[in-house]
Amino acid sequence: MYPLFEFPTIGGGMIIALIATFHILPCHLATGGFWMAYFLERRGHADKNQELLDYIKHFALMILIFCFVLGSITGVGIWFASTIISPRAISGLIHTYVWGWATEWVFFIIEIVAIYTYYYTFGKVAPKTHMRIGLIYAWAAWISMVIITGILAFMMTPGKWLETGGFFDGFFNPTYWPQLFYRTMMMLAISGMFAAVMAGFMKDGKTQNYVVKTAGRWGLAGMVLGALFAVWYYFKLPATAHEILASIPYAAMMFKVSLVIGAVMAIYFALLIFGQTPLAHPVVAIPMVFVLFVGIGGGESVREFSRRPYLMPGYMYSNQIIAHDFEVKGIKSEVARFQKDGFLQSNYFVPADWRNINEKNYLKAGMLLTKANCVICHTMEADGRSSLPRLIERIGITAAADLAAYLKTIGDDYPYMPAFAGNDVERRAAAAYMVSIVPNNEAEPPTPAWVLNGDE
Ligand code: HEC
Repeated sequence: MYPLFEFPTIGGGMIIALIATFHILPCHLATGGFWMAYFLERRGHADKNQELLDYIKHFALMILIFCFVLGSITGVGIWFASTIISPRAISGLIHTYVWGWATEWVFFIIEIVAIYTYYYTFGKVAPKTHMRIGLIYAWAAWISMVIITGILAFMMTPGKWLETGGFFDGFFNPTYWPQLFYRTMMMLAISGMFAAVMAGFMKDGKTQNYVVKTAGRWGLAGMVLGALFAVWYYFKLPATAHEILASIPYAAMMFKVSLVIGAVMAIYFALLIFGQTPLAHPVVAIPMVFVLFVGIGGGESVREFSRRPYLMPGYMYSNQIIAHDFEVKGIKSEVARFQKDGFLQSNYFVPADWRNINEKNYLKAGMLLTKANCVICHTMEADGRSSLPRLIERIGITAAADLAAYLKTIGDDYPYMPAFAGNDVERRAAAAYMVSIVPNNEAEPPTPAWVLNGDE
């Protein structure tokens, strides 16, 4: 294990989720936008429509700015935030997928070269050549999605990888194809949204009308087909994921938010197809981008919740503790080891005078154990997000002995929480700390003797 990184009140998971949601909009646009640019540019040349060609030039410039500034900064942001919050997960992923990422970066470079060439050769090279450059970009961008989806889907459903540890067994996992098709449709829908926003800045007339209708068609097709693939995706998720979506109110709410917003977006695109050009006006279209953003946030939260309590299902828990033996790689479950030998003794970063629990340090050691086990999903502050003290208050436990007993069963009783990784003394020290942070807890605090010797 590495030292812990804690984000008070907000929680590290929320930080990653926020950055990831900001990332999805530009990155799906970056992958889908040029299929649309290619389609419209062909039409522009065929009709010799200079207004349409000017529109595409702007469209490409805005993608260049929006995606290659916001998209890259947030992409790096995800790496940065995940590396400090879950270094072991990133390490695990790199050990398995370093060549996947290397391949991905080759395609990123092709994208970057292609988009700059496309923009700066606009009107300067033969139309056919120019459109080919656009196509090179479109393919390279989509292939980068083909690659990253394998890694993302692996983190949901690693499939046969758990038995073989093989690259392609994890890559082509049970949710790979539904997720790839779903994301491909989303990229078309997001491109439709972007095309509509850009069309809002055109002067009224036939060309604007044509662009708005095309944006509506792409958007609607993306939403409808995307919904079908999402259903397929949903049914490929393991039973625990379905249980979580049904039992955790927040996850269930996010699921509903994403469904409702999907429907709202579909209606919006349908209205565009029927020639409601005023709906592309920035006053309407820009708030619609915000709505779409919230919908994406909802969908991503659902994805995150579905893999609880794991970071890599079947292998590593969200708190980075290795949950089960991984035979082909000779890796042993840490939960079992920490429950037997103790967490504090087994981890290098633990301060030397906290390694053996005694009368003086048990609350501090308990804090460390609580954070190591729980802080990835719960905050320690009473007013924090998914606040641990509040949740303990909610289940009505006040005495440390009851909480210690509760911690013993937590992994079995909840489909979405890991088992407590620590030995008996550590579990009691953690319980002593946890009851001490519950606001207005009137129960008698536990005695050091109970923590050290227990009588459960
Ligand atoms: C993988 C993420 C995750 C980890 C790690 C985790 N929890 Fe939870 N926990 C959840 C979720 C999700 C909920 C449901 C929250 C809700 O209902 O709002 C929850 C709910 C709870 C509840 C309320 C249960 C109930 O029946 O209402 C308690 C108490 C709790 N957690 C304690 C802990 C403790 C103690 C730890 C560390 C030993 C821990 N959790 C670790 C995800 C986690």
